[in-house]
Amino acid sequence: MLKLPSGFAFDYANLSGPGKVTDADIAGVAGRISAAHAAVQHMRASGEVRGHLSKDGTPEKVLFSQLPYVAAGNLNSPQSIQRLKDFGATLRHHTDAVIHFGIGGSYLGNRVLFDAHGGEFWNSRSSADRDGYPELYFSGNNIDPQRTSDLISHILAAAKAKAPYRLLLVVVSKSGGTLDTMANFMVVYDALRRVPGLEISVVAVTDPAEGDKATLLKKLARENGWRTFAVPDGVGGRFSVFSEVGLVTAACIGFDIDAFLAGARAMDQACAGGDPWANPALLNAVLKYLSAANHGRNIEIFMPYADRLKAVAEWYIQLLAESLGKRADRQGREVFYGRTPVVAVGTTDMHAQTQQHQDGPRDKVVQFVRVGFWQPDPVIPAAFPAVRELAKFASLRMSQALDAALAANAEALSRDGRYSAVFTLPKLDAFHLGELLYLLALSVAYEGELADVDAFDQPGVEAYKRIMAPKLEALKKGQ
Ligand code: PA5
Repeated sequence: MLKLPSGFAFDYANLSGPGKVTDADIAGVAGRISAAHAAVQHMRASGEVRGHLSKDGTPEKVLFSQLPYVAAGNLNSPQSIQRLKDFGATLRHHTDAVIHFGIGGSYLGNRVLFDAHGGEFWNSRSSADRDGYPELYFSGNNIDPQRTSDLISHILAAAKAKAPYRLLLVVVSKSGGTLDTMANFMVVYDALRRVPGLEISVVAVTDPAEGDKATLLKKLARENGWRTFAVPDGVGGRFSVFSEVGLVTAACIGFDIDAFLAGARAMDQACAGGDPWANPALLNAVLKYLSAANHGRNIEIFMPYADRLKAVAEWYIQLLAESLGKRADRQGREVFYGRTPVVAVGTTDMHAQTQQHQDGPRDKVVQFVRVGFWQPDPVIPAAFPAVRELAKFASLRMSQALDAALAANAEALSRDGRYSAVFTLPKLDAFHLGELLYLLALSVAYEGELADVDAFDQPGVEAYKRIMAPKLEALKKGQ
Protein backbone atom coordinates (compact mmCIF):
# COMPACT_ATOMS: atom_id res chain seq x y z
CA MET A 1 0.00 0.00 0.00
CA LEU A 2 1.33 3.41 -0.97
CA LYS A 3 -0.22 6.09 1.24
CA LEU A 4 0.36 9.81 0.78
CA PRO A 5 0.42 12.34 3.65
CA SER A 6 -3.03 13.55 2.48
CA GLY A 7 -4.44 10.08 3.20
CA PHE A 8 -4.85 9.22 -0.50
CA ALA A 9 -3.82 5.57 -0.90
CA PHE A 10 -3.01 3.12 -3.68
CA ASP A 11 -3.45 -0.46 -2.51
CA TYR A 12 -1.73 -2.68 -5.08
CA ALA A 13 -1.61 -5.89 -2.97
CA ASN A 14 -3.79 -7.72 -5.50
CA LEU A 15 -1.78 -6.48 -8.47
CA SER A 16 1.78 -7.30 -7.46
CA GLY A 17 3.39 -10.33 -5.84
CA PRO A 18 3.50 -14.06 -6.57
CA GLY A 19 1.04 -14.97 -9.31
CA LYS A 20 0.60 -11.31 -10.24
CA VAL A 21 3.19 -8.77 -11.40
CA THR A 22 6.39 -10.06 -9.80
CA ASP A 23 9.61 -8.38 -8.70
CA ALA A 24 11.29 -10.20 -11.60
CA ASP A 25 8.79 -8.63 -14.03
CA ILE A 26 9.66 -5.22 -12.65
CA ALA A 27 13.41 -5.86 -12.63
CA GLY A 28 13.11 -6.86 -16.28
CA VAL A 29 12.00 -3.35 -17.24
CA ALA A 30 14.09 -1.37 -14.74
CA GLY A 31 15.87 0.53 -17.50
CA ARG A 32 12.56 1.41 -19.17
CA ILE A 33 11.15 2.64 -15.86
CA SER A 34 14.11 4.98 -15.33
CA ALA A 35 13.81 6.22 -18.91
CA ALA A 36 10.06 6.80 -18.49
CA HIS A 37 10.67 8.77 -15.33
CA ALA A 38 13.34 10.88 -17.05
CA ALA A 39 11.08 11.52 -20.06
CA VAL A 40 8.18 12.67 -17.87
CA GLN A 41 10.53 14.89 -15.83
CA HIS A 42 11.62 16.43 -19.12
CA MET A 43 7.98 16.91 -20.16
CA ARG A 44 7.26 18.62 -16.85
CA ALA A 45 10.22 20.97 -17.21
CA SER A 46 10.01 21.80 -20.91
CA GLY A 47 6.68 20.55 -22.30
CA GLU A 48 8.63 18.44 -24.79
CA VAL A 49 7.61 14.85 -25.48
CA ARG A 50 9.78 12.89 -27.89
CA GLY A 51 8.10 12.43 -31.25
CA HIS A 52 4.82 14.12 -30.33
CA LEU A 53 3.23 15.99 -33.22
CA SER A 54 0.00 17.93 -33.41
CA LYS A 55 -2.84 16.96 -35.78
CA ASP A 56 -1.27 19.03 -38.55
CA GLY A 57 2.07 17.20 -38.18
CA THR A 58 4.07 19.93 -36.42
CA PRO A 59 5.85 19.50 -33.06
CA GLU A 60 3.52 20.36 -30.19
CA LYS A 61 4.22 20.89 -26.50
CA VAL A 62 2.44 18.92 -23.78
CA LEU A 63 1.63 21.29 -20.95
CA PHE A 64 -1.02 19.71 -18.75
CA SER A 65 1.50 19.17 -15.92
CA GLN A 66 1.82 22.96 -15.63
CA LEU A 67 -1.89 23.43 -14.89
CA PRO A 68 -1.85 22.70 -11.13
CA TYR A 69 0.67 25.51 -10.62
CA VAL A 70 -1.06 28.89 -10.45
CA ALA A 71 1.58 31.53 -11.13
CA ALA A 72 2.10 34.62 -13.24
CA GLY A 73 2.89 33.59 -16.81
CA ASN A 74 1.50 30.05 -16.36
CA LEU A 75 -1.57 28.68 -18.12
CA ASN A 76 -3.42 29.13 -14.82
CA SER A 77 -2.38 32.46 -13.33
CA PRO A 78 -3.72 34.29 -10.27
CA GLN A 79 -5.51 36.64 -12.69
CA SER A 80 -7.11 33.87 -14.75
CA ILE A 81 -8.32 32.06 -11.62
CA GLN A 82 -9.71 35.30 -10.22
CA ARG A 83 -11.49 35.93 -13.52
CA LEU A 84 -13.15 32.52 -13.24
CA LYS A 85 -14.22 33.19 -9.67
CA ASP A 86 -15.59 36.61 -10.66
CA PHE A 87 -17.51 34.93 -13.46
CA GLY A 88 -18.98 32.44 -10.96
CA ALA A 89 -19.93 35.30 -8.64
CA THR A 90 -21.83 37.08 -11.45
CA LEU A 91 -23.96 33.97 -11.98
CA ARG A 92 -24.78 33.44 -8.34
CA HIS A 93 -28.35 34.59 -7.61
CA HIS A 94 -28.51 36.09 -11.14
CA THR A 95 -28.77 33.07 -13.45
CA ASP A 96 -31.45 30.39 -13.36
CA ALA A 97 -29.78 27.76 -15.50
CA VAL A 98 -26.65 27.00 -17.46
CA ILE A 99 -26.48 24.68 -20.45
CA HIS A 100 -22.99 23.33 -21.13
CA PHE A 101 -22.36 22.33 -24.76
CA GLY A 102 -19.35 20.10 -25.40
CA ILE A 103 -18.23 16.56 -26.18
CA GLY A 104 -15.24 14.31 -25.40
CA GLY A 105 -12.55 16.33 -23.68
CA SER A 106 -14.82 19.36 -23.73
CA TYR A 107 -17.47 17.54 -21.67
CA LEU A 108 -16.23 14.55 -19.68
CA GLY A 109 -14.17 16.45 -17.09
CA ASN A 110 -16.99 18.97 -16.65
CA ARG A 111 -19.36 16.13 -15.91
CA VAL A 112 -16.95 14.75 -13.29
CA LEU A 113 -16.85 18.08 -11.43
CA PHE A 114 -20.61 18.54 -11.68
CA ASP A 115 -21.45 15.04 -10.45
CA ALA A 116 -18.88 15.07 -7.64
CA HIS A 117 -20.07 18.44 -6.36
CA GLY A 118 -23.75 18.53 -7.22
CA GLY A 119 -24.87 14.94 -7.63
CA GLU A 120 -27.97 13.64 -9.32
CA PHE A 121 -30.44 15.98 -7.66
CA TRP A 122 -28.64 19.35 -8.06
CA ASN A 123 -31.19 20.66 -10.54
CA SER A 124 -34.18 19.77 -8.39
CA ARG A 125 -32.85 21.54 -5.32
CA SER A 126 -33.92 25.07 -4.44
CA SER A 127 -31.63 27.93 -5.38
CA ALA A 128 -30.89 28.41 -1.66
CA ASP A 129 -29.86 24.76 -1.36
CA ARG A 130 -27.52 25.33 -4.30
CA ASP A 131 -26.09 28.35 -2.49
CA GLY A 132 -27.51 30.60 -5.21
CA TYR A 133 -25.74 28.81 -8.06
CA PRO A 134 -27.76 27.95 -11.18
CA GLU A 135 -29.14 24.65 -12.40
CA LEU A 136 -26.78 23.04 -14.90
CA TYR A 137 -27.60 20.86 -17.91
CA PHE A 138 -25.35 19.17 -20.45
CA SER A 139 -25.88 19.05 -24.18
CA GLY A 140 -23.70 18.48 -27.23
CA ASN A 141 -22.32 15.19 -25.97
CA ASN A 142 -24.51 13.33 -28.46
CA ILE A 143 -26.47 14.12 -31.61
CA ASP A 144 -29.72 12.83 -30.18
CA PRO A 145 -32.81 14.59 -31.57
CA GLN A 146 -35.03 13.41 -28.70
CA ARG A 147 -32.70 14.47 -25.88
CA THR A 148 -32.14 17.91 -27.41
CA SER A 149 -35.88 18.42 -27.93
CA ASP A 150 -36.58 17.27 -24.37
CA LEU A 151 -34.05 19.77 -23.05
CA ILE A 152 -35.66 22.61 -25.03
CA SER A 153 -39.12 21.66 -23.74
CA HIS A 154 -37.81 21.55 -20.20
CA ILE A 155 -36.28 25.03 -20.44
CA LEU A 156 -39.42 26.43 -22.11
CA ALA A 157 -41.59 25.08 -19.29
CA ALA A 158 -39.24 26.55 -16.67
CA ALA A 159 -39.23 29.92 -18.46
CA LYS A 160 -43.01 29.90 -18.60
CA ALA A 161 -43.16 29.45 -14.84
CA LYS A 162 -40.68 32.23 -14.09
CA ALA A 163 -40.08 35.44 -16.02
CA PRO A 164 -37.55 36.74 -16.57
CA TYR A 165 -35.73 33.41 -16.89
CA ARG A 166 -32.00 33.94 -17.20
CA LEU A 167 -30.20 31.25 -19.16
CA LEU A 168 -26.48 30.98 -19.87
CA LEU A 169 -25.21 28.85 -22.74
CA VAL A 170 -21.57 27.78 -22.26
CA VAL A 171 -20.16 26.47 -25.54
CA VAL A 172 -16.88 24.56 -25.21
CA SER A 173 -14.95 23.52 -28.29
CA LYS A 174 -11.21 23.72 -28.78
CA SER A 175 -11.52 23.44 -32.56
CA GLY A 176 -14.62 25.63 -32.45
CA GLY A 177 -16.56 23.71 -35.06
CA THR A 178 -17.31 20.21 -33.73
CA LEU A 179 -20.51 18.89 -35.29
CA ASP A 180 -22.01 17.42 -32.12
CA THR A 181 -21.41 20.53 -30.00
CA MET A 182 -22.26 23.18 -32.54
CA ALA A 183 -25.35 21.42 -33.96
CA ASN A 184 -26.87 21.16 -30.48
CA PHE A 185 -25.89 24.74 -29.64
CA MET A 186 -27.50 26.06 -32.82
CA VAL A 187 -30.70 24.03 -32.36
CA VAL A 188 -31.10 25.12 -28.73
CA TYR A 189 -30.07 28.76 -29.33
CA ASP A 190 -32.42 29.10 -32.26
CA ALA A 191 -35.35 27.54 -30.41
CA LEU A 192 -34.95 29.76 -27.35
CA ARG A 193 -33.54 33.08 -28.45
CA ARG A 194 -36.82 34.78 -29.33
CA VAL A 195 -38.91 33.45 -26.45
CA PRO A 196 -40.42 36.37 -24.50
CA GLY A 197 -39.15 36.56 -20.93
CA LEU A 198 -36.19 34.30 -21.64
CA GLU A 199 -32.89 36.16 -21.40
CA ILE A 200 -30.00 34.30 -23.02
CA SER A 201 -26.32 35.01 -22.71
CA VAL A 202 -23.49 32.98 -24.19
CA VAL A 203 -19.95 32.17 -23.09
CA ALA A 204 -17.50 30.58 -25.53
CA VAL A 205 -14.56 28.42 -24.41
CA THR A 206 -12.22 27.81 -27.34
CA ASP A 207 -8.71 28.11 -28.72
CA PRO A 208 -7.66 31.69 -27.91
CA ALA A 209 -5.85 32.26 -31.25
CA GLU A 210 -6.87 35.45 -33.03
CA GLY A 211 -6.75 36.58 -36.67
CA ASP A 212 -6.48 33.95 -39.40
CA LYS A 213 -6.16 31.19 -36.83
CA ALA A 214 -9.29 32.15 -34.88
CA THR A 215 -11.80 29.29 -34.56
CA LEU A 216 -15.35 29.66 -35.84
CA LEU A 217 -16.51 29.85 -32.24
CA LYS A 218 -13.97 32.55 -31.45
CA LYS A 219 -15.16 34.59 -34.44
CA LEU A 220 -18.79 34.17 -33.39
CA ALA A 221 -17.90 35.29 -29.87
CA ARG A 222 -16.18 38.39 -31.20
CA GLU A 223 -19.04 39.28 -33.56
CA ASN A 224 -21.68 38.78 -30.87
CA GLY A 225 -19.80 40.21 -27.90
CA TRP A 226 -19.79 36.92 -25.93
CA ARG A 227 -17.41 36.47 -23.03
CA THR A 228 -14.64 33.94 -23.74
CA PHE A 229 -12.39 31.56 -21.85
CA ALA A 230 -9.45 29.65 -23.30
CA VAL A 231 -8.66 26.05 -24.19
CA PRO A 232 -4.90 26.48 -23.88
CA ASP A 233 -2.42 25.36 -26.51
CA GLY A 234 -0.61 22.18 -25.50
CA VAL A 235 -3.52 20.87 -23.41
CA GLY A 236 -5.44 18.07 -25.09
CA GLY A 237 -9.13 17.65 -24.33
CA ARG A 238 -8.61 14.66 -22.06
CA PHE A 239 -6.22 16.66 -19.85
CA SER A 240 -8.24 19.89 -19.90
CA VAL A 241 -10.26 19.45 -16.70
CA PHE A 242 -7.51 21.39 -14.86
CA SER A 243 -7.73 24.28 -17.35
CA GLU A 244 -10.46 26.87 -17.97
CA VAL A 245 -12.41 24.10 -19.78
CA GLY A 246 -13.13 22.25 -16.52
CA LEU A 247 -12.86 25.25 -14.25
CA VAL A 248 -15.66 27.09 -16.06
CA THR A 249 -18.07 24.43 -14.79
CA ALA A 250 -16.46 24.66 -11.35
CA ALA A 251 -17.15 28.41 -11.35
CA CYS A 252 -20.78 27.90 -12.45
CA ILE A 253 -21.60 25.65 -9.48
CA GLY A 254 -19.30 26.91 -6.71
CA PHE A 255 -16.93 23.92 -6.82
CA ASP A 256 -13.69 24.73 -4.97
CA ILE A 257 -11.19 25.56 -7.73
CA ASP A 258 -8.30 26.27 -5.35
CA ALA A 259 -8.66 22.97 -3.51
CA PHE A 260 -9.03 21.03 -6.77
CA LEU A 261 -5.79 22.45 -8.18
CA ALA A 262 -4.07 22.05 -4.80
CA GLY A 263 -4.95 18.34 -4.90
CA ALA A 264 -3.52 18.02 -8.42
CA ARG A 265 -0.40 19.88 -7.27
CA ALA A 266 0.05 17.65 -4.22
CA MET A 267 -0.20 14.60 -6.47
CA ASP A 268 2.28 16.06 -8.95
CA GLN A 269 4.76 16.55 -6.12
CA ALA A 270 4.11 13.06 -4.74
CA CYS A 271 4.91 11.70 -8.20
CA ALA A 272 8.20 13.51 -8.70
CA GLY A 273 10.63 10.76 -7.69
CA GLY A 274 12.06 7.98 -9.82
CA ASP A 275 11.41 5.13 -7.34
CA PRO A 276 8.20 3.50 -8.55
CA TRP A 277 7.37 2.20 -5.06
CA ALA A 278 7.14 5.80 -3.84
CA ASN A 279 5.52 7.41 -6.92
CA PRO A 280 1.85 6.39 -7.26
CA ALA A 281 1.41 7.43 -10.91
CA LEU A 282 4.60 5.65 -11.99
CA LEU A 283 3.74 2.57 -9.93
CA ASN A 284 0.23 2.44 -11.40
CA ALA A 285 1.69 2.73 -14.92
CA VAL A 286 4.34 0.05 -14.31
CA LEU A 287 1.94 -2.46 -12.75
CA LYS A 288 -0.77 -1.96 -15.38
CA TYR A 289 1.77 -2.06 -18.22
CA LEU A 290 3.29 -5.31 -16.93
CA SER A 291 -0.14 -6.81 -16.16
CA ALA A 292 -0.87 -6.50 -19.87
CA ALA A 293 2.56 -7.13 -21.38
CA ASN A 294 3.55 -10.14 -19.23
CA HIS A 295 0.22 -11.50 -17.99
CA GLY A 296 -2.34 -10.75 -20.73
CA ARG A 297 -4.48 -8.40 -18.62
CA ASN A 298 -5.60 -6.26 -21.57
CA ILE A 299 -8.84 -4.88 -20.11
CA GLU A 300 -9.16 -2.37 -17.28
CA ILE A 301 -12.45 -2.18 -15.43
CA PHE A 302 -12.63 1.20 -13.68
CA MET A 303 -15.04 0.71 -10.79
CA PRO A 304 -15.67 3.45 -8.26
CA TYR A 305 -17.84 2.52 -5.31
CA ALA A 306 -19.79 5.79 -5.42
CA ASP A 307 -22.50 6.97 -7.81
CA ARG A 308 -21.01 10.47 -7.81
CA LEU A 309 -17.79 9.03 -9.22
CA LYS A 310 -19.29 7.13 -12.14
CA ALA A 311 -18.40 10.08 -14.35
CA VAL A 312 -14.74 9.62 -13.37
CA ALA A 313 -14.90 6.17 -14.94
CA GLU A 314 -16.39 7.73 -18.10
CA TRP A 315 -13.67 10.39 -18.13
CA TYR A 316 -11.03 7.69 -17.64
CA ILE A 317 -12.36 5.75 -20.63
CA GLN A 318 -11.39 8.64 -22.89
CA LEU A 319 -8.08 9.22 -21.11
CA LEU A 320 -6.95 5.61 -21.40
CA ALA A 321 -8.44 4.85 -24.82
CA GLU A 322 -7.22 7.96 -26.65
CA SER A 323 -3.85 8.11 -24.92
CA LEU A 324 -2.76 4.50 -25.12
CA GLY A 325 -4.86 2.79 -27.79
CA LYS A 326 -2.27 3.08 -30.54
CA ARG A 327 -1.63 1.22 -33.78
CA ALA A 328 2.07 2.12 -34.02
CA ASP A 329 4.92 2.83 -31.63
CA ARG A 330 7.19 5.84 -32.00
CA GLN A 331 9.35 3.93 -34.46
CA GLY A 332 6.32 3.44 -36.68
CA ARG A 333 6.10 -0.30 -35.98
CA GLU A 334 2.61 -1.81 -35.66
CA VAL A 335 2.05 -2.68 -31.99
CA PHE A 336 -1.75 -2.32 -31.53
CA TYR A 337 -1.14 -1.23 -27.95
CA GLY A 338 -3.64 -0.39 -25.20
CA ARG A 339 -5.90 -1.86 -22.53
CA THR A 340 -9.61 -1.67 -23.29
CA PRO A 341 -11.27 0.46 -20.62
CA VAL A 342 -14.67 -0.46 -19.17
CA VAL A 343 -16.98 1.56 -16.90
CA ALA A 344 -18.41 -0.12 -13.83
CA VAL A 345 -19.86 1.12 -10.54
CA GLY A 346 -19.94 -0.65 -7.19
CA THR A 347 -22.14 -2.04 -5.86
CA THR A 348 -24.38 -1.74 -8.95
CA ASP A 349 -22.23 -3.80 -11.30
CA MET A 350 -21.52 -6.52 -8.74
CA HIS A 351 -25.00 -7.66 -9.68
CA ALA A 352 -24.12 -7.72 -13.37
CA GLN A 353 -20.52 -7.44 -14.66
CA THR A 354 -18.88 -9.16 -11.69
CA GLN A 355 -19.93 -12.56 -13.03
CA GLN A 356 -17.70 -11.92 -16.03
CA HIS A 357 -14.85 -10.44 -13.96
CA GLN A 358 -14.87 -13.53 -11.71
CA ASP A 359 -15.44 -16.32 -14.21
CA GLY A 360 -14.70 -14.88 -17.66
CA PRO A 361 -11.29 -14.79 -19.36
CA ARG A 362 -8.34 -13.88 -17.16
CA ASP A 363 -7.70 -10.71 -19.14
CA LYS A 364 -8.73 -7.97 -16.71
CA VAL A 365 -7.52 -5.65 -14.01
CA VAL A 366 -10.33 -4.28 -11.87
CA GLN A 367 -9.40 -0.82 -10.61
CA PHE A 368 -11.58 0.02 -7.62
CA VAL A 369 -12.03 3.51 -6.20
CA ARG A 370 -13.09 3.77 -2.58
CA VAL A 371 -14.23 6.76 -0.52
CA GLY A 372 -12.90 6.51 3.06
CA PHE A 373 -15.28 8.81 4.90
CA TRP A 374 -18.91 9.49 4.00
CA GLN A 375 -21.01 12.38 5.23
CA PRO A 376 -23.95 11.85 5.41
CA ASP A 377 -23.80 8.15 6.19
CA PRO A 378 -27.19 6.76 7.27
CA VAL A 379 -27.44 3.83 9.65
CA ILE A 380 -29.49 0.97 8.20
CA PRO A 381 -32.34 0.84 10.70
CA ALA A 382 -33.99 -2.20 12.22
CA ALA A 383 -37.20 -1.22 10.43
CA PHE A 384 -38.53 -4.79 10.47
CA PRO A 385 -36.90 -6.42 13.56
CA ALA A 386 -38.95 -9.59 13.23
CA VAL A 387 -37.40 -10.39 9.85
CA ARG A 388 -34.14 -12.15 10.76
CA GLU A 389 -32.55 -11.83 7.30
CA LEU A 390 -32.98 -8.05 7.35
CA ALA A 391 -31.93 -7.72 10.98
CA LYS A 392 -28.54 -9.21 10.00
CA PHE A 393 -27.33 -5.93 8.52
CA ALA A 394 -29.46 -3.51 10.53
CA SER A 395 -27.49 -1.03 12.67
CA LEU A 396 -24.57 -0.95 10.20
CA ARG A 397 -23.78 2.31 8.48
CA MET A 398 -24.35 2.27 4.71
CA SER A 399 -20.64 2.99 4.18
CA GLN A 400 -19.73 -0.13 6.19
CA ALA A 401 -21.91 -2.27 3.95
CA LEU A 402 -20.39 -0.59 0.88
CA ASP A 403 -16.83 -1.20 2.13
CA ALA A 404 -17.60 -4.82 2.96
CA ALA A 405 -18.94 -5.29 -0.58
CA LEU A 406 -15.79 -3.84 -2.14
CA ALA A 407 -13.47 -5.86 0.11
CA ALA A 408 -15.41 -9.06 -0.62
CA ASN A 409 -15.27 -8.42 -4.36
CA ALA A 410 -11.49 -7.83 -4.27
CA GLU A 411 -10.94 -10.94 -2.12
CA ALA A 412 -13.06 -13.18 -4.34
CA LEU A 413 -11.14 -12.01 -7.41
CA SER A 414 -7.78 -12.42 -5.68
CA ARG A 415 -8.55 -15.93 -4.40
CA ASP A 416 -8.98 -16.94 -8.01
CA GLY A 417 -5.74 -15.25 -9.12
CA ARG A 418 -7.52 -12.26 -10.65
CA TYR A 419 -6.00 -8.79 -10.60
CA SER A 420 -7.35 -5.70 -8.88
CA ALA A 421 -6.18 -2.55 -7.09
CA VAL A 422 -7.81 0.16 -4.96
CA PHE A 423 -7.43 3.92 -4.92
CA THR A 424 -8.79 5.36 -1.66
CA LEU A 425 -9.91 8.97 -1.44
CA PRO A 426 -10.06 9.87 2.27
CA LYS A 427 -13.31 11.66 1.42
CA LEU A 428 -15.03 12.89 -1.72
CA ASP A 429 -13.99 16.52 -1.97
CA ALA A 430 -12.32 18.83 -4.47
CA PHE A 431 -8.79 18.24 -3.14
CA HIS A 432 -8.89 14.45 -3.30
CA LEU A 433 -10.69 14.49 -6.65
CA GLY A 434 -7.85 16.68 -7.96
CA GLU A 435 -5.37 14.11 -6.64
CA LEU A 436 -7.15 11.19 -8.32
CA LEU A 437 -7.64 12.79 -11.74
CA TYR A 438 -4.09 14.09 -11.85
CA LEU A 439 -2.65 10.71 -10.85
CA LEU A 440 -4.51 9.08 -13.73
CA ALA A 441 -3.42 11.76 -16.22
CA LEU A 442 0.23 11.46 -15.21
CA SER A 443 0.01 7.70 -15.20
CA VAL A 444 -0.87 7.55 -18.92
CA ALA A 445 2.12 9.83 -19.62
CA TYR A 446 4.40 7.29 -17.88
CA GLU A 447 2.74 4.33 -19.59
CA GLY A 448 3.12 5.99 -23.01
CA GLU A 449 6.87 6.04 -22.32
CA LEU A 450 6.95 2.43 -21.10
CA ALA A 451 5.10 1.26 -24.20
CA ASP A 452 6.93 3.73 -26.45
CA VAL A 453 3.71 5.14 -27.93
CA ASP A 454 2.65 8.79 -28.24
CA ALA A 455 0.15 9.23 -25.41
CA PHE A 456 -0.86 12.71 -26.59
CA ASP A 457 -2.19 12.24 -30.11
CA GLN A 458 -5.37 10.51 -31.32
CA PRO A 459 -4.95 9.80 -35.04
CA GLY A 460 -7.52 6.98 -34.92
CA VAL A 461 -10.45 9.36 -34.44
CA GLU A 462 -9.67 11.03 -37.76
CA ALA A 463 -10.57 7.88 -39.74
CA TYR A 464 -14.34 8.18 -39.32
CA LYS A 465 -14.19 11.97 -39.65
CA ARG A 466 -12.69 11.62 -43.14
CA ILE A 467 -15.62 9.40 -44.12
CA MET A 468 -18.31 11.47 -42.39
CA ALA A 469 -17.42 14.87 -43.92
CA PRO A 470 -18.30 13.94 -47.52
CA LYS A 471 -21.40 12.13 -46.30
CA LEU A 472 -22.66 15.35 -44.67
CA GLU A 473 -21.81 17.29 -47.82
CA ALA A 474 -23.73 14.81 -49.96
CA LEU A 475 -26.74 15.12 -47.66
CA LYS A 476 -26.65 18.93 -47.99
CA LYS A 477 -26.47 18.71 -51.79
CA GLY A 478 -29.34 16.25 -51.92
CA GLN A 479 -31.68 18.56 -49.98
O1 PA5 B 1 -9.77 14.49 -26.85
C1 PA5 B 1 -10.19 14.98 -27.89
O2 PA5 B 1 -9.45 15.56 -28.67
C2 PA5 B 1 -11.65 14.91 -28.23
O3 PA5 B 1 -12.38 14.15 -27.35
C3 PA5 B 1 -12.20 16.31 -28.24
O4 PA5 B 1 -12.13 16.86 -26.96
C4 PA5 B 1 -13.64 16.33 -28.75
O5 PA5 B 1 -13.70 15.80 -30.04
C5 PA5 B 1 -14.18 17.75 -28.77
O6 PA5 B 1 -13.37 18.55 -29.57
P1 PA5 B 1 -13.53 20.10 -29.51
O7 PA5 B 1 -13.17 20.58 -28.17
O8 PA5 B 1 -12.58 20.60 -30.57
O9 PA5 B 1 -14.95 20.42 -29.88
